[in-house]
Amino acid sequence: MAKLTTLHEFIMDRQGDFPYATGELSRLLSDISVASKVVSNDVRRAGLMDDIIGAQGNTNIQGEEQQKLDVIADNAFISVFKTGGEVCGIASEENDDFMPFESEFSKGGKYVVLFDPLDGSSNIDVNVSIGTIFSIYRRVSEKGSPATLADMLQEGAKQIAAGYVLYGSSTMLVYTTGFGVNGFTLDPSIGEFCLSHPKMQMPTTGRMYAMNEGNINICDPGIKEYIETYCQQILEGASKPYSGRYIGSLVADFHRNLIKGGIYIYPSTTVDPDGRLRLLYECNPLAFIAEQAGGLATTGHDRVMDIVPKELHERIPFFIGSKEMVEQAMNFLK
Ligand code: AHG
Ligand code: MN
Ligand code: MN
Repeated sequence: MAKLTTLHEFIMDRQGDFPYATGELSRLLSDISVASKVVSNDVRRAGLMDDIIGAQGNTNIQGEEQQKLDVIADNAFISVFKTGGEVCGIASEENDDFMPFESEFSKGGKYVVLFDPLDGSSNIDVNVSIGTIFSIYRRVSEKGSPATLADMLQEGAKQIAAGYVLYGSSTMLVYTTGFGVNGFTLDPSIGEFCLSHPKMQMPTTGRMYAMNEGNINICDPGIKEYIETYCQQILEGASKPYSGRYIGSLVADFHRNLIKGGIYIYPSTTVDPDGRLRLLYECNPLAFIAEQAGGLATTGHDRVMDIVPKELHERIPFFIGSKEMVEQAMNFLK
């Protein structure tokens, strides 16, 4: 067997990408990998444990019913961030407001993390892939004080690192620090993430489209036209139409498209005029990864990472995937 590169070794080797690196980002990425192993372990046995599966009995600020695993994952990540010392505050989907860390130890941290602790939570009970998505920024507030809202509301283009963990047929961690995208698979027998997908590149085009087509008649008619007159036709040079693939976990749909090529669309609808997906902890981190892998992420009109966020749980319409496919879909919008 060829020598495996563990995530930890990889992170240490890459520290030199950042001149004057102090090792804090490296430690933060390692902390994230530890929390993901804890969550992965819970996900893997969820069906057997009443305290892990099912609804928590609360609704979050977005009006969505929280699942027990949403809360377990949220706590697992918050706990490593609070005890790591690199992070001065966080924001997550499951907390109404951002959380400044008050301890002397955390106040010295230079980073903030925004995250979706469990994406695709409607898939938990039915054993379908789910994930964690995270975005890391350098704080803009003074070091030595707790994080502020301004630390959280930064454009995606200012991300220092972003990634996701997919609890799929295997558990994978995929991340970027702005020097390409690399993917690591968790080997459960040794409890280590090992480099399995070096230098990931999204094919410039593909043959799969992902959208909740139940929304087709309540969104921009250009999208219906794109799907019906483009995706669902046999295009010149092809032998069959595109394939529709919608898992309903953004992170899993994105991961498939990253590897195979494809497009994911969650547009504005008459029910959700701003779309459904959250800019700060769903769209921006995946946009950073997409761009680093040669793909594209837009609102249908503008680049996602240029948006100046106005609020923590802001939603945007989202088009992400293979560059040529996203450009093509945008041409249809009215
Ligand atoms: P979350 O579980 O974190 O709330 O996110 C769910 C998101 C996303 O993962 C998925 O693609 C989308 O919501 C599904 O929405 P529809 O059920 O409207 O298709
Ligand atoms: Mn989500
Ligand atoms: Mn979630």
